[in-house]
Amino acid sequence: MNQSSRVIDPTGEPGGPVQGLSGRSLHALDRDLSKWGNNLVRKFHVLMRISQIYDSKNAVLLQFMKEVLQTINTLVESEGSLSFKILKDDLFLNEQRLRYSVDGFTSFKYLLSQWKKRVIGEVIFTEPLDEKDLREFIYALIDLKEGEKENAGLLTKRLVEQGISSILATRLEVVEEEEGTVTLHRRDRKEIARNVFFETIGTMKEAITRIKGKQHSDVRKLKRLAQKAVDLVMEDESILLGMATIKNYDEYTFNHSVNVSIYSLAMGRRLGFSRKMLTDLVITGLFHDIGKSKVPREILNKPGALDEEEWNLMRKHPLTGVEIVLNLKELGQINPRMVVGIFDHHLKDDLTGYPKLFKKRRISLFGRIIQISDSYDAMTTPRVYKKKPYTAEQALAIMLKERTNHFDPILLKIFIGIIGIYPIGSLVLLRTGGMGIVYKPHPDPEWADRPQVIVVERDGKGNVGERIVDLAETDEKGCFKQEIVKTLDPYKYHIDITQYLLG
Ligand SMILES: [Fe+2]
Ligand SMILES: [Fe+2]
Repeated sequence: MNQSSRVIDPTGEPGGPVQGLSGRSLHALDRDLSKWGNNLVRKFHVLMRISQIYDSKNAVLLQFMKEVLQTINTLVESEGSLSFKILKDDLFLNEQRLRYSVDGFTSFKYLLSQWKKRVIGEVIFTEPLDEKDLREFIYALIDLKEGEKENAGLLTKRLVEQGISSILATRLEVVEEEEGTVTLHRRDRKEIARNVFFETIGTMKEAITRIKGKQHSDVRKLKRLAQKAVDLVMEDESILLGMATIKNYDEYTFNHSVNVSIYSLAMGRRLGFSRKMLTDLVITGLFHDIGKSKVPREILNKPGALDEEEWNLMRKHPLTGVEIVLNLKELGQINPRMVVGIFDHHLKDDLTGYPKLFKKRRISLFGRIIQISDSYDAMTTPRVYKKKPYTAEQALAIMLKERTNHFDPILLKIFIGIIGIYPIGSLVLLRTGGMGIVYKPHPDPEWADRPQVIVVERDGKGNVGERIVDLAETDEKGCFKQEIVKTLDPYKYHIDITQYLLG
Protein backbone atom coordinates (compact mmCIF):
# COMPACT_ATOMS: atom_id res chain seq x y z
CA MET A 1 0.00 0.00 0.00
CA ASN A 2 1.21 3.40 -0.81
CA GLN A 3 0.53 5.52 2.28
CA SER A 4 1.52 8.73 0.58
CA SER A 5 -0.82 8.33 -2.36
CA ARG A 6 -3.34 11.08 -2.88
CA VAL A 7 -6.83 9.77 -3.13
CA ILE A 8 -9.28 11.80 -5.13
CA ASP A 9 -12.72 12.11 -3.73
CA PRO A 10 -14.92 9.49 -5.39
CA THR A 11 -17.21 12.28 -6.55
CA GLY A 12 -14.40 13.31 -8.81
CA GLU A 13 -12.63 16.19 -7.08
CA PRO A 14 -9.01 15.91 -6.06
CA GLY A 15 -8.71 15.76 -2.31
CA GLY A 16 -5.95 15.87 0.27
CA PRO A 17 -3.67 13.01 1.23
CA VAL A 18 -5.83 10.24 2.52
CA GLN A 19 -4.91 6.83 3.79
CA GLY A 20 -4.83 4.21 1.01
CA LEU A 21 -7.95 2.16 0.43
CA SER A 22 -6.49 -1.09 1.72
CA GLY A 23 -5.94 0.38 5.18
CA ARG A 24 -9.66 0.67 5.83
CA SER A 25 -12.11 -1.78 7.31
CA LEU A 26 -13.60 -4.24 4.86
CA HIS A 27 -16.96 -2.51 4.91
CA ALA A 28 -15.52 0.93 4.28
CA LEU A 29 -13.33 -0.55 1.56
CA ASP A 30 -16.32 -2.09 -0.21
CA ARG A 31 -18.22 1.15 0.03
CA ASP A 32 -15.28 3.12 -1.28
CA LEU A 33 -14.70 0.76 -4.16
CA SER A 34 -18.35 0.92 -5.04
CA LYS A 35 -18.28 4.74 -5.10
CA TRP A 36 -15.09 4.73 -7.12
CA GLY A 37 -16.52 2.19 -9.48
CA ASN A 38 -19.69 4.20 -10.09
CA ASN A 39 -17.62 7.28 -10.64
CA LEU A 40 -15.29 5.52 -13.06
CA VAL A 41 -18.12 3.93 -15.02
CA ARG A 42 -19.83 7.30 -15.48
CA LYS A 43 -16.65 8.99 -16.66
CA PHE A 44 -15.66 6.11 -18.87
CA HIS A 45 -19.09 6.21 -20.48
CA VAL A 46 -18.68 9.90 -21.37
CA LEU A 47 -15.12 9.31 -22.53
CA MET A 48 -16.12 6.50 -24.88
CA ARG A 49 -18.93 8.57 -26.32
CA ILE A 50 -16.92 11.71 -26.95
CA SER A 51 -13.95 9.76 -28.29
CA GLN A 52 -16.24 8.52 -31.04
CA ILE A 53 -17.17 12.10 -31.98
CA TYR A 54 -14.09 14.25 -31.43
CA ASP A 55 -10.47 13.88 -32.44
CA SER A 56 -7.83 13.22 -29.82
CA LYS A 57 -6.90 16.91 -29.43
CA ASN A 58 -10.34 18.16 -28.47
CA ALA A 59 -10.34 20.10 -25.18
CA VAL A 60 -13.40 18.41 -23.69
CA LEU A 61 -11.96 15.04 -24.56
CA LEU A 62 -8.63 15.93 -22.98
CA GLN A 63 -10.35 17.04 -19.80
CA PHE A 64 -12.23 13.76 -19.49
CA MET A 65 -9.08 11.79 -20.30
CA LYS A 66 -7.41 13.55 -17.43
CA GLU A 67 -10.22 12.76 -15.00
CA VAL A 68 -10.47 9.11 -15.97
CA LEU A 69 -6.70 8.83 -15.78
CA GLN A 70 -6.66 10.31 -12.31
CA THR A 71 -9.31 7.86 -11.09
CA ILE A 72 -7.66 4.82 -12.65
CA ASN A 73 -4.21 5.73 -11.33
CA THR A 74 -5.45 6.41 -7.82
CA LEU A 75 -7.02 2.99 -7.74
CA VAL A 76 -3.99 1.27 -9.26
CA GLU A 77 -1.73 2.95 -6.71
CA SER A 78 -3.82 2.11 -3.69
CA GLU A 79 -4.96 -1.36 -4.77
CA GLY A 80 -1.84 -2.57 -6.57
CA SER A 81 -3.73 -3.15 -9.82
CA LEU A 82 -7.19 -2.53 -11.19
CA SER A 83 -9.41 -5.07 -12.86
CA PHE A 84 -12.62 -4.17 -14.56
CA LYS A 85 -14.64 -7.23 -15.41
CA ILE A 86 -17.98 -8.08 -16.99
CA LEU A 87 -19.75 -11.23 -15.95
CA LYS A 88 -23.25 -11.75 -17.32
CA ASP A 89 -24.99 -8.45 -16.62
CA ASP A 90 -22.72 -7.29 -13.84
CA LEU A 91 -19.59 -5.22 -13.62
CA PHE A 92 -16.88 -6.16 -11.15
CA LEU A 93 -14.18 -3.82 -9.92
CA ASN A 94 -11.33 -5.84 -8.43
CA GLU A 95 -13.70 -8.79 -7.98
CA GLN A 96 -16.31 -6.67 -6.21
CA ARG A 97 -19.67 -6.48 -7.92
CA LEU A 98 -20.66 -2.89 -8.47
CA ARG A 99 -24.09 -1.79 -7.49
CA TYR A 100 -25.09 0.98 -9.77
CA SER A 101 -26.67 4.14 -8.49
CA VAL A 102 -29.90 5.35 -10.06
CA ASP A 103 -28.22 8.15 -11.99
CA GLY A 104 -25.43 5.79 -13.03
CA PHE A 105 -27.76 3.29 -14.66
CA THR A 106 -27.42 4.62 -18.23
CA SER A 107 -23.63 4.56 -18.00
CA PHE A 108 -23.64 0.97 -16.77
CA LYS A 109 -25.94 -0.11 -19.54
CA TYR A 110 -23.82 1.68 -22.13
CA LEU A 111 -20.55 0.24 -20.91
CA LEU A 112 -21.90 -3.28 -20.63
CA SER A 113 -23.35 -3.22 -24.14
CA GLN A 114 -20.25 -1.59 -25.71
CA TRP A 115 -17.81 -4.04 -24.14
CA LYS A 116 -20.04 -7.04 -24.76
CA LYS A 117 -20.45 -6.08 -28.42
CA ARG A 118 -16.68 -6.10 -28.73
CA VAL A 119 -16.40 -9.38 -26.79
CA ILE A 120 -14.19 -7.80 -24.14
CA GLY A 121 -14.70 -9.37 -20.72
CA GLU A 122 -11.97 -7.91 -18.55
CA VAL A 123 -9.40 -5.15 -18.65
CA ILE A 124 -6.60 -5.11 -16.11
CA PHE A 125 -4.46 -2.07 -15.43
CA THR A 126 -1.28 -3.34 -13.82
CA GLU A 127 0.55 -0.02 -13.47
CA PRO A 128 -0.34 3.66 -13.43
CA LEU A 129 -0.96 5.01 -16.94
CA ASP A 130 -0.04 8.21 -18.69
CA GLU A 131 -2.28 10.15 -21.06
CA LYS A 132 -0.89 8.48 -24.15
CA ASP A 133 -1.57 4.98 -22.72
CA LEU A 134 -5.17 5.82 -21.99
CA ARG A 135 -5.72 7.50 -25.35
CA GLU A 136 -4.31 4.52 -27.25
CA PHE A 137 -6.43 2.16 -25.18
CA ILE A 138 -9.68 4.06 -25.81
CA TYR A 139 -9.11 4.35 -29.57
CA ALA A 140 -7.99 0.72 -29.85
CA LEU A 141 -11.13 -0.31 -27.98
CA ILE A 142 -13.46 1.76 -30.14
CA ASP A 143 -11.83 0.51 -33.34
CA LEU A 144 -12.50 -3.15 -32.54
CA LYS A 145 -14.95 -4.86 -34.88
CA GLU A 146 -18.15 -5.94 -33.21
CA GLY A 147 -18.62 -9.62 -32.49
CA GLU A 148 -15.00 -10.68 -33.15
CA LYS A 149 -13.95 -13.35 -30.69
CA GLU A 150 -10.27 -12.50 -31.13
CA ASN A 151 -10.73 -8.87 -30.07
CA ALA A 152 -9.17 -9.15 -26.61
CA GLY A 153 -5.94 -10.58 -28.06
CA LEU A 154 -5.93 -7.96 -30.83
CA LEU A 155 -6.40 -5.15 -28.33
CA THR A 156 -3.54 -6.28 -26.07
CA LYS A 157 -1.32 -6.83 -29.15
CA ARG A 158 -2.01 -3.36 -30.54
CA LEU A 159 -1.15 -1.80 -27.18
CA VAL A 160 2.08 -3.79 -26.85
CA GLU A 161 3.04 -2.60 -30.34
CA GLN A 162 2.64 0.95 -29.03
CA GLY A 163 4.97 0.10 -26.15
CA ILE A 164 2.12 -0.21 -23.61
CA SER A 165 2.36 -3.33 -21.48
CA SER A 166 0.39 -2.14 -18.45
CA ILE A 167 -3.07 -2.82 -19.94
CA LEU A 168 -4.26 -6.35 -20.53
CA ALA A 169 -7.60 -7.37 -22.01
CA THR A 170 -9.29 -10.75 -21.88
CA ARG A 171 -12.17 -12.23 -23.81
CA LEU A 172 -15.75 -12.05 -22.57
CA GLU A 173 -16.67 -15.24 -20.80
CA VAL A 174 -19.89 -16.61 -22.12
CA VAL A 175 -21.64 -17.91 -19.07
CA GLU A 176 -24.03 -20.67 -19.95
CA GLU A 177 -27.41 -19.92 -18.43
CA GLU A 178 -27.04 -22.29 -15.50
CA GLU A 179 -30.22 -24.25 -15.54
CA GLY A 180 -32.62 -21.86 -13.85
CA THR A 181 -30.28 -20.60 -11.12
CA VAL A 182 -31.78 -17.16 -11.06
CA THR A 183 -35.33 -18.30 -11.54
CA LEU A 184 -34.84 -20.95 -8.90
CA HIS A 185 -33.80 -18.30 -6.41
CA ARG A 186 -36.75 -16.22 -7.37
CA ARG A 187 -39.01 -19.24 -7.14
CA ASP A 188 -37.65 -19.99 -3.66
CA ARG A 189 -38.27 -16.44 -2.56
CA LYS A 190 -41.72 -16.56 -4.08
CA GLU A 191 -42.48 -19.65 -2.05
CA ILE A 192 -41.28 -17.95 1.13
CA ALA A 193 -43.21 -14.79 0.27
CA ARG A 194 -46.38 -16.77 -0.27
CA ASN A 195 -45.96 -18.51 3.09
CA VAL A 196 -45.22 -15.26 4.90
CA PHE A 197 -48.21 -13.57 3.29
CA PHE A 198 -50.79 -16.24 4.04
CA GLU A 199 -49.34 -17.06 7.44
CA THR A 200 -49.55 -13.40 8.40
CA ILE A 201 -53.17 -13.19 7.31
CA GLY A 202 -53.92 -16.30 9.37
CA THR A 203 -52.02 -15.04 12.39
CA MET A 204 -53.72 -11.64 12.22
CA LYS A 205 -57.07 -13.40 12.15
CA GLU A 206 -56.14 -15.42 15.21
CA ALA A 207 -54.76 -12.38 17.04
CA ILE A 208 -57.85 -10.26 16.36
CA THR A 209 -60.21 -13.07 17.35
CA ARG A 210 -58.35 -13.49 20.63
CA ILE A 211 -58.23 -9.77 21.28
CA LYS A 212 -61.98 -9.58 20.68
CA GLY A 213 -62.47 -12.36 23.19
CA LYS A 214 -60.12 -10.57 25.61
CA GLN A 215 -57.78 -13.57 25.46
CA HIS A 216 -54.02 -13.61 25.50
CA SER A 217 -52.74 -13.60 21.92
CA ASP A 218 -49.31 -14.57 20.70
CA VAL A 219 -48.14 -11.55 18.81
CA ARG A 220 -44.50 -12.61 18.92
CA LYS A 221 -45.29 -14.74 15.90
CA LEU A 222 -46.39 -11.61 14.07
CA LYS A 223 -43.13 -9.94 14.93
CA ARG A 224 -41.18 -12.88 13.50
CA LEU A 225 -43.27 -12.77 10.34
CA ALA A 226 -42.69 -9.02 10.08
CA GLN A 227 -38.93 -9.62 10.25
CA LYS A 228 -39.21 -12.23 7.48
CA ALA A 229 -41.15 -9.76 5.35
CA VAL A 230 -38.42 -7.17 5.89
CA ASP A 231 -35.77 -9.67 4.76
CA LEU A 232 -37.78 -10.50 1.66
CA VAL A 233 -38.33 -6.90 0.66
CA MET A 234 -34.66 -6.09 1.17
CA GLU A 235 -33.84 -8.78 -1.40
CA ASP A 236 -36.62 -8.27 -3.90
CA GLU A 237 -39.39 -5.75 -3.43
CA SER A 238 -41.56 -6.96 -6.27
CA ILE A 239 -42.47 -10.39 -4.90
CA LEU A 240 -44.29 -9.20 -1.78
CA LEU A 241 -45.76 -6.25 -3.69
CA GLY A 242 -47.19 -8.80 -6.11
CA MET A 243 -48.84 -10.53 -3.15
CA ALA A 244 -50.54 -7.28 -2.16
CA THR A 245 -52.60 -7.50 -5.34
CA ILE A 246 -54.53 -10.23 -3.53
CA LYS A 247 -57.59 -8.56 -2.09
CA ASN A 248 -60.34 -10.04 0.05
CA TYR A 249 -58.61 -13.39 0.50
CA ASP A 250 -60.25 -13.56 3.88
CA GLU A 251 -62.27 -11.02 5.78
CA TYR A 252 -61.37 -7.54 4.55
CA THR A 253 -59.51 -6.32 7.64
CA PHE A 254 -56.96 -9.18 7.77
CA ASN A 255 -56.00 -9.04 4.11
CA HIS A 256 -56.12 -5.24 4.10
CA SER A 257 -53.80 -4.96 7.12
CA VAL A 258 -51.23 -7.23 5.51
CA ASN A 259 -51.37 -5.27 2.25
CA VAL A 260 -50.99 -1.95 4.06
CA SER A 261 -47.91 -3.37 5.78
CA ILE A 262 -46.40 -4.44 2.47
CA TYR A 263 -46.92 -1.08 0.78
CA SER A 264 -45.59 0.73 3.84
CA LEU A 265 -42.60 -1.58 4.02
CA ALA A 266 -41.72 -0.84 0.40
CA MET A 267 -41.94 2.91 1.14
CA GLY A 268 -39.83 2.57 4.29
CA ARG A 269 -37.21 0.70 2.34
CA ARG A 270 -37.00 3.45 -0.23
CA LEU A 271 -36.67 5.94 2.60
CA GLY A 272 -33.64 4.01 3.84
CA PHE A 273 -35.12 2.88 7.17
CA SER A 274 -33.12 0.45 9.31
CA ARG A 275 -34.34 -3.15 9.66
CA LYS A 276 -35.57 -2.41 13.17
CA MET A 277 -37.56 0.58 11.99
CA LEU A 278 -38.95 -1.39 9.03
CA THR A 279 -40.10 -4.16 11.36
CA ASP A 280 -41.83 -1.56 13.55
CA LEU A 281 -43.48 -0.11 10.46
CA VAL A 282 -44.76 -3.52 9.34
CA ILE A 283 -46.27 -4.16 12.78
CA THR A 284 -47.84 -0.69 12.80
CA GLY A 285 -49.38 -1.52 9.41
CA LEU A 286 -50.68 -4.84 10.71
CA PHE A 287 -52.29 -3.19 13.71
CA HIS A 288 -53.40 0.10 12.21
CA ASP A 289 -57.05 -0.97 12.11
CA ILE A 290 -56.99 -3.21 15.16
CA GLY A 291 -59.39 -0.75 16.79
CA LYS A 292 -62.00 -1.88 14.27
CA SER A 293 -62.22 -5.14 16.21
CA LYS A 294 -64.38 -3.19 18.68
CA VAL A 295 -66.68 -1.86 15.95
CA PRO A 296 -69.69 -4.12 15.30
CA ARG A 297 -69.45 -6.16 12.11
CA GLU A 298 -72.81 -4.79 10.84
CA ILE A 299 -71.34 -1.31 10.80
CA LEU A 300 -68.08 -2.41 9.18
CA ASN A 301 -69.91 -4.29 6.45
CA LYS A 302 -72.85 -1.94 6.01
CA PRO A 303 -73.58 -1.56 2.29
CA GLY A 304 -75.14 1.90 2.64
CA ALA A 305 -73.98 5.15 4.21
CA LEU A 306 -73.32 5.22 7.95
CA ASP A 307 -75.56 7.29 10.21
CA GLU A 308 -74.15 9.82 12.67
CA GLU A 309 -73.94 7.38 15.57
CA GLU A 310 -72.29 4.70 13.47
CA TRP A 311 -69.77 7.21 12.19
CA ASN A 312 -68.91 8.25 15.70
CA LEU A 313 -68.12 4.65 16.56
CA MET A 314 -66.10 4.21 13.40
CA ARG A 315 -64.10 7.37 14.09
CA LYS A 316 -62.99 5.94 17.40
CA HIS A 317 -61.01 3.08 15.88
CA PRO A 318 -57.58 4.80 15.81
CA LEU A 319 -57.83 5.62 19.51
CA THR A 320 -59.20 2.19 20.42
CA GLY A 321 -56.34 0.73 18.38
CA VAL A 322 -53.82 2.62 20.50
CA GLU A 323 -55.40 1.27 23.70
CA ILE A 324 -55.31 -2.29 22.40
CA VAL A 325 -51.70 -2.10 21.24
CA LEU A 326 -50.55 -0.58 24.51
CA ASN A 327 -52.02 -3.61 26.25
CA LEU A 328 -50.14 -6.08 24.07
CA LYS A 329 -47.30 -6.64 26.44
CA GLU A 330 -45.89 -9.50 24.42
CA LEU A 331 -44.86 -7.17 21.65
CA GLY A 332 -41.89 -6.23 23.76
CA GLN A 333 -40.97 -2.61 23.85
CA ILE A 334 -43.56 -0.88 21.79
CA ASN A 335 -41.93 2.03 20.17
CA PRO A 336 -43.90 5.29 20.57
CA ARG A 337 -43.72 5.80 16.79
CA MET A 338 -45.88 2.68 16.34
CA VAL A 339 -48.50 3.97 18.73
CA VAL A 340 -48.53 7.44 17.20
CA GLY A 341 -48.65 5.90 13.71
CA ILE A 342 -51.84 4.03 14.59
CA PHE A 343 -53.35 7.13 16.18
CA ASP A 344 -52.51 9.30 13.16
CA HIS A 345 -53.53 7.11 10.26
CA HIS A 346 -56.79 8.97 9.54
CA LEU A 347 -55.49 12.43 10.27
CA LYS A 348 -54.99 14.32 7.06
CA ASP A 349 -52.13 16.66 6.36
CA ASP A 350 -54.46 19.66 6.71
CA LEU A 351 -55.51 18.19 10.09
CA THR A 352 -58.99 17.29 8.93
CA GLY A 353 -59.91 13.67 9.46
CA TYR A 354 -60.08 12.00 12.85
CA PRO A 355 -59.52 11.82 15.83
CA LYS A 356 -59.86 15.57 16.42
CA LEU A 357 -56.67 17.20 17.55
CA PHE A 358 -56.79 19.93 20.17
CA LYS A 359 -53.37 21.21 19.33
CA LYS A 360 -51.93 21.59 15.87
CA ARG A 361 -48.98 19.31 15.19
CA ARG A 362 -47.26 17.61 12.27
CA ILE A 363 -48.59 14.13 11.53
CA SER A 364 -46.02 11.45 12.34
CA LEU A 365 -43.97 9.85 9.57
CA PHE A 366 -45.42 6.38 10.25
CA GLY A 367 -48.90 7.92 10.20
CA ARG A 368 -48.26 9.62 6.87
CA ILE A 369 -46.87 6.44 5.31
CA ILE A 370 -49.71 4.21 6.54
CA GLN A 371 -52.28 6.72 5.38
CA ILE A 372 -51.12 6.45 1.77
CA SER A 373 -50.92 2.64 1.81
CA ASP A 374 -54.28 2.49 3.57
CA SER A 375 -56.10 4.72 1.10
CA TYR A 376 -54.62 2.97 -1.92
CA ASP A 377 -55.45 -0.53 -0.71
CA ALA A 378 -58.97 0.48 0.34
CA MET A 379 -59.64 2.06 -3.05
CA THR A 380 -58.34 -0.89 -5.05
CA THR A 381 -60.23 -3.55 -3.06
CA PRO A 382 -63.82 -4.57 -3.87
CA ARG A 383 -66.10 -3.69 -0.95
CA VAL A 384 -69.73 -4.37 -0.14
CA TYR A 385 -70.58 -0.77 -1.00
CA LYS A 386 -68.33 -0.66 -4.08
CA LYS A 387 -68.16 -4.01 -5.80
CA LYS A 388 -66.02 -2.82 -8.68
CA PRO A 389 -63.00 -1.17 -7.14
CA TYR A 390 -60.84 1.54 -8.67
CA THR A 391 -58.04 0.38 -10.92
CA ALA A 392 -54.52 1.23 -9.75
CA GLU A 393 -54.40 4.12 -12.24
CA GLN A 394 -57.72 5.57 -11.06
CA ALA A 395 -56.76 5.26 -7.39
CA LEU A 396 -53.42 7.00 -7.93
CA ALA A 397 -55.12 9.75 -9.96
CA ILE A 398 -57.59 10.40 -7.12
CA MET A 399 -54.82 10.45 -4.55
CA LEU A 400 -52.78 12.87 -6.65
CA LYS A 401 -55.75 15.21 -6.91
CA GLU A 402 -56.08 15.26 -3.14
CA ARG A 403 -52.40 15.39 -2.43
CA THR A 404 -52.14 18.98 -1.31
CA ASN A 405 -54.46 18.65 1.62
CA HIS A 406 -54.52 14.94 2.35
CA PHE A 407 -51.25 13.26 1.61
CA ASP A 408 -47.63 14.09 2.10
CA PRO A 409 -46.62 15.03 -1.47
CA ILE A 410 -43.11 13.58 -1.24
CA LEU A 411 -44.25 10.29 0.23
CA LEU A 412 -46.96 10.11 -2.41
CA LYS A 413 -44.35 10.56 -5.11
CA ILE A 414 -42.32 7.71 -3.61
CA PHE A 415 -45.43 5.57 -3.48
CA ILE A 416 -46.25 6.25 -7.11
CA GLY A 417 -42.68 5.26 -7.94
CA ILE A 418 -43.27 1.93 -6.21
CA ILE A 419 -46.62 1.22 -7.78
CA GLY A 420 -45.36 2.53 -11.12
CA ILE A 421 -47.34 3.57 -14.12
CA TYR A 422 -47.95 -0.09 -14.73
CA PRO A 423 -48.30 -1.56 -11.24
CA ILE A 424 -47.53 -5.22 -10.65
CA GLY A 425 -50.64 -7.17 -11.57
CA SER A 426 -51.90 -4.71 -14.21
CA LEU A 427 -53.44 -6.33 -17.23
CA VAL A 428 -52.01 -4.77 -20.39
CA LEU A 429 -52.60 -4.96 -24.12
CA LEU A 430 -49.40 -5.49 -26.11
CA ARG A 431 -48.59 -4.14 -29.56
CA THR A 432 -48.75 -7.64 -31.04
CA GLY A 433 -52.32 -7.95 -29.83
CA GLY A 434 -51.61 -10.31 -26.94
CA MET A 435 -52.37 -9.64 -23.31
CA GLY A 436 -49.82 -9.50 -20.55
CA ILE A 437 -49.79 -9.26 -16.79
CA VAL A 438 -47.20 -6.92 -15.30
CA TYR A 439 -44.86 -9.08 -13.27
CA LYS A 440 -41.80 -7.06 -12.35
CA PRO A 441 -41.09 -3.36 -12.85
CA HIS A 442 -37.93 -2.19 -14.58
CA PRO A 443 -35.29 -1.18 -11.98
CA ASP A 444 -34.73 2.18 -13.66
CA PRO A 445 -37.70 4.55 -13.07
CA GLU A 446 -37.10 6.12 -16.47
CA TRP A 447 -37.99 2.79 -18.00
CA ALA A 448 -41.20 2.46 -16.00
CA ASP A 449 -43.14 1.77 -19.19
CA ARG A 450 -41.01 -1.31 -19.88
CA PRO A 451 -41.64 -3.83 -17.10
CA GLN A 452 -41.43 -7.60 -17.36
CA VAL A 453 -44.80 -9.11 -18.19
CA ILE A 454 -46.28 -12.59 -18.13
CA VAL A 455 -47.68 -13.22 -21.57
CA VAL A 456 -50.47 -15.73 -21.71
CA GLU A 457 -50.83 -17.39 -25.10
CA ARG A 458 -52.04 -20.50 -26.87
CA ASP A 459 -49.71 -22.66 -28.90
CA GLY A 460 -50.64 -24.26 -32.25
CA LYS A 461 -52.33 -27.15 -30.43
CA GLY A 462 -54.48 -24.80 -28.39
CA ASN A 463 -52.62 -25.35 -25.11
CA VAL A 464 -52.38 -22.28 -22.92
CA GLY A 465 -48.85 -21.38 -21.90
CA GLU A 466 -47.18 -18.53 -20.07
CA ARG A 467 -43.89 -16.90 -20.74
CA ILE A 468 -42.10 -13.97 -19.19
CA VAL A 469 -41.28 -11.19 -21.62
CA ASP A 470 -38.93 -8.34 -20.81
CA LEU A 471 -40.32 -5.25 -22.55
CA ALA A 472 -36.89 -3.60 -22.39
CA GLU A 473 -35.51 -6.21 -24.79
CA THR A 474 -34.45 -5.01 -28.22
CA ASP A 475 -33.79 -6.80 -31.48
CA GLU A 476 -30.53 -6.71 -33.49
CA LYS A 477 -31.49 -3.30 -34.89
CA GLY A 478 -32.00 -1.88 -31.42
CA CYS A 479 -35.81 -1.67 -31.76
CA PHE A 480 -37.98 -2.79 -28.88
CA LYS A 481 -39.42 -6.21 -29.52
CA GLN A 482 -42.66 -5.51 -27.73
CA GLU A 483 -44.53 -2.71 -25.99
CA ILE A 484 -47.62 -1.82 -24.03
CA VAL A 485 -50.46 -0.15 -25.93
CA LYS A 486 -52.81 0.39 -22.99
CA THR A 487 -54.04 -1.08 -19.72
CA LEU A 488 -57.10 -3.26 -19.65
CA ASP A 489 -59.65 -3.78 -16.94
CA PRO A 490 -59.20 -7.33 -15.58
CA TYR A 491 -62.78 -7.32 -14.30
CA LYS A 492 -64.07 -6.88 -17.84
CA TYR A 493 -62.05 -9.83 -19.08
CA HIS A 494 -62.81 -12.00 -16.05
CA ILE A 495 -59.15 -12.65 -15.52
CA ASP A 496 -57.92 -13.69 -12.11
CA ILE A 497 -54.60 -11.88 -12.04
CA THR A 498 -53.43 -13.37 -8.75
CA GLN A 499 -53.57 -16.87 -10.23
CA TYR A 500 -50.73 -15.87 -12.57
CA LEU A 501 -48.72 -13.98 -10.02
CA LEU A 502 -48.88 -16.83 -7.56
CA GLY A 503 -48.44 -19.63 -10.07
FE1 LIG B 1 -58.33 2.84 9.65
FE1 LIG C 1 -57.15 0.73 7.09
